[in-house]
Amino acid sequence: MTHEPLVLGIETSCDETGIGIVRGTTLLADAVASSVDEHARFGGVVPEVASRAHLEAMVPTLRRAAETAGIRLSDVDAVAVTSGPGLAGALLVGVAAAKALALGLDKPLYGVNHLAAHVAVDQLEHGPLPEPCLALLVSGGHSSLLQVTDLTLGVDPMGATIDDAAGEAFDKVARLLGLPFPGGPHIDRVAAEGQITIDFPRGLTSRRDLERHRFDFSFSGLKTAVARWVEAKERAGEPVPVADVAASFQEAVCDVLVRKALDAARERGIEDLMIGGGVAANSRLRAMAVERAAAAGVRVRVPRPGLCTDNGAMVAALGAEMVARGRTPSALDLPADSSLPVTTVLS
Ligand code: KG4
Ligand code: ZN
Repeated sequence: MTHEPLVLGIETSCDETGIGIVRGTTLLADAVASSVDEHARFGGVVPEVASRAHLEAMVPTLRRAAETAGIRLSDVDAVAVTSGPGLAGALLVGVAAAKALALGLDKPLYGVNHLAAHVAVDQLEHGPLPEPCLALLVSGGHSSLLQVTDLTLGVDPMGATIDDAAGEAFDKVARLLGLPFPGGPHIDRVAAEGQITIDFPRGLTSRRDLERHRFDFSFSGLKTAVARWVEAKERAGEPVPVADVAASFQEAVCDVLVRKALDAARERGIEDLMIGGGVAANSRLRAMAVERAAAAGVRVRVPRPGLCTDNGAMVAALGAEMVARGRTPSALDLPADSSLPVTTVLS
């Protein structure tokens, strides 16, 4: 191959049908169709509804991406797809589409890990990841701290959430504040008008907890504390200061995430921190990370918000890296694995 590989990436692990097209580390197209509006009234993603929406959106989104990139599908050198983790039925639609394309075009297929793709996407914006690099991965389903050297070979998990993921906490707290689903962007918006007036608990930061869970997270206690605080206000017949609660909750989440990430960087002597996943779109998390990292002598990289939330470009980015590093493609009987572990980057 004389030119950089042209890779098409397919993402269908949750409620976004994403098709991304990259040439090497250059982003050519990032088409996303979301079924979020169909789930909003249920207050969470309904798996069957998501699968059906992926089926309907797949071909139009593929067409839109190819048009934007100015390519024909026959130009593609490899097809990458999220093979897990995620909703089983939703993943299956993407994996089936990717197999059909790979077979029809006679091009290699790469089944990649959604979580690793959240890390890989940053290379489209900020160039190759430094080796080693620390990744704080915060999405709707996962929160982990990973040491990354060559992403295509795997990741070294340092810690993870022991209960709710950070994004899940945002969604649950938003719900109890009467904000729409998904809650993260709404908390972010509302918090900007509030003050940090309430000192909510920072999970797993006590000296005793740190002995066993130094780089782990816990957000369910925080969620319960917010619920109790709101209930007490309501019982007293007082108005709930939604913006202040949102700002104080957001501060507690970001404080723990950034504190533990920088502690991990210090522990491993790593000078570069990347933050990925939907929660990395949070404005307070981005600002706090940049500020505190600078004080700690750590460089921070965060993709632009549109590349933090689920999309196909991230899958294409990881696929392109697999091609560039000469990794063996997946078999055509590649399964979708809803509980694919974070350590399995290529399946
Ligand atoms: O990575 P992602 O798009 O999907 C998963 O892989 O789960 O992450 C979705 C999560 C949701 O919980 C959503 O509320 C949260 O990311 N999120 C945010 C923001 N934008 C999305 N959380 C906080 N602030 C935001 N601006
Ligand atoms: Zn995600």
